[in-house]
Amino acid sequence: MKILVVGAGGREHTFVWKIAQSPRVTRLYAAPGNAGMAQQAQCVDIASEDINGLLAFAQQEGIDLTLIGPENPLADGIVDRFQENGLTIFGPTQAAAQIEADKDFALELMHKYGIPTGDYRSFTDPEAARACVREWDRPLYLKASGLAMGKGAIPCPTPDAAFQAIEKVMVDRVFGAAGDRVVLMEWLEGEEASISGFTDGEHIVYLVPSQDHKTIGEGDTGPNTGGMGAYAPVPVVTPGLQQEIYDRIMQPTVQALAAEGRPYRGILYGGIILTADGPKVIEFNCRLGDPEAQVVLPLLKTDLVDLLTGVCEGNLKDVSVEIDNRAATCVVIASGGYPGDYEKGYPISGVNRAEASGDVIPFHAGTAESNGRFVTSGGRILGVTALGDNIPASIRRAYQAVEKIRFKDMYCRKDIGHRALARLNAGA
Ligand code: AMP
Ligand code: GLY
Repeated sequence: MKILVVGAGGREHTFVWKIAQSPRVTRLYAAPGNAGMAQQAQCVDIASEDINGLLAFAQQEGIDLTLIGPENPLADGIVDRFQENGLTIFGPTQAAAQIEADKDFALELMHKYGIPTGDYRSFTDPEAARACVREWDRPLYLKASGLAMGKGAIPCPTPDAAFQAIEKVMVDRVFGAAGDRVVLMEWLEGEEASISGFTDGEHIVYLVPSQDHKTIGEGDTGPNTGGMGAYAPVPVVTPGLQQEIYDRIMQPTVQALAAEGRPYRGILYGGIILTADGPKVIEFNCRLGDPEAQVVLPLLKTDLVDLLTGVCEGNLKDVSVEIDNRAATCVVIASGGYPGDYEKGYPISGVNRAEASGDVIPFHAGTAESNGRFVTSGGRILGVTALGDNIPASIRRAYQAVEKIRFKDMYCRKDIGHRALARLNAGA
């Protein structure tokens, strides 16, 4: 098969790395890819958002299956366009991708079908939103209803913070049209976990529960980033809780989307918060998380191409799935200054040495190649993933590998997995 992976980050490198292991693949392409993906795939210089360009390429090359990594092309309807042209593509249609691209739609759907989530109200008028803040008078999250590059959720512990967020999103329109509508959502308390599954619209094949680390600073402090590391499995998600999340959240959501005439095929990601009242949804994504992909895909033993074709052909229940029972940890190495301003173009050393230490995969996010060397080309540079017999072993191995990598002003959090370690220590 000829396969095309669309995207440029660490999640997409993980897809490419995993697909490259399949005996079913004859040619593998990445658009636009990065220097890491270029080791396993042929990179073609077409942007992820360039639907016409990607369609023309897939037609010319006779691509058998296209996989979409990021949310934007899905929300823009790339799957519908490919299907109208008779091409096989992995991901939800535009109507189904609204589960991520329209937070008001997602919350309305959950409330209609009794899927556990927070209270919310939705507004297009700033004065009406302010009135709701006064009436609620409790901590909340203000969210741009549309896609805002993962930055659209603003914590508002006080009414004043909420008034400022309304000003920023609805009046100053910092997220543009994504903020035409905003939702005010109840602030839910608890530990978070990411639950992802492949679905053909009926059956779901789950990946291992994982946990992201969104803030730049240790101890979960400072501004949010695209994600500074992840680990899987997540000890706080006990087998009982996991089953509850499948039965009360994931399966009912897939059924609800089908009932609404928006059958969902692709990967459904639930951002779940484990509250004192049980697991609740804070958001759904219409694709795999980044950096969650970097830990959950290496723990999948099954040929990924079998799962992808099972989804596209609607016979996922016939695919047998095997999960590695080890643990994985991914430590993201970023450019100094990220998520604010940073320099690019610094040479990176030690990537091959890190990989040679065994059970370590340095996934590339923001790298380019210059004169035969890897150089930095973004905010998040590498996601160094290590496998181990348990979480502490995978964390140790990931940090040993990180030690071998060098570039000017590199930064990583030193506490990836701290919640799991605290829980394991408490139980010991
Ligand atoms: P989102 O962009 O919706 O993924 O939100 C980013 C982060 O904000 C989440 O990972 C949570 O940590 C936090 N968050 C979002 N919504 C809520 C909520 N209703 N209650 C508590 N935390 C939330
Ligand atoms: N890691 C969270 C996300 O990809 O949205």
